[in-house]
Amino acid sequence: MTAQAQSLSDQEIEDIAAYLSSLAPAAPKDSDAQVKKAKDLLTQSDAGKLASKCVSCHGNDGTGTAPQFPRLAGQYNEYIQHVVHEYQNGERDNPIMKPQVSNLSPDDIKQLADYFSTLPTQLEKPDELSTLKGHVQGD
Ligand code: HEC
Repeated sequence: MTAQAQSLSDQEIEDIAAYLSSLAPAAPKDSDAQVKKAKDLLTQSDAGKLASKCVSCHGNDGTGTAPQFPRLAGQYNEYIQHVVHEYQNGERDNPIMKPQVSNLSPDDIKQLADYFSTLPTQLEKPDELSTLKGHVQGD
């Protein structure tokens, strides 16, 4: 990422952010099943207890309570785990996130990733996404 980002001007970064944030998040394939799985995880595992520490910023539904708190709902499981490990070891240096995750074990992190990655992204119009996808691919 550093190599990709280093050559960008402030204006380019703003333009890319405006473009990426305007894209719709991926539609869950089966949102009913996903909601059920997320609820099961929340009530029947330690993930819910762990996640209660995260939701003040990232939201009960994982979509973020404010723009500075990124959406966790529907993010790739492996990505969530990877980033949390990076906050722990300082590779990704963030003074807000580091204390949030410093006491989590690898198993806690996996449970949290299972939970947040399972939450639906609240995309209401999946049809719009397929249209957009066709557009981006140029067909
Ligand atoms: C006090 C507010 C706060 C709390 C509580 C919090 N976070 Fe965060 N989180 C943030 C902020 C701010 C960022 C953006 C940091 C950055 O720029 O890297 C972030 C980023 C993240 C990211 C990276 C998202 C991405 O798209 O790269 C993950 C994953 C994450 N948090 C997981 C968690 C988990 C799991 C918990 C609970 C154990 C938690 N956070 C608790 C504020 C918080």
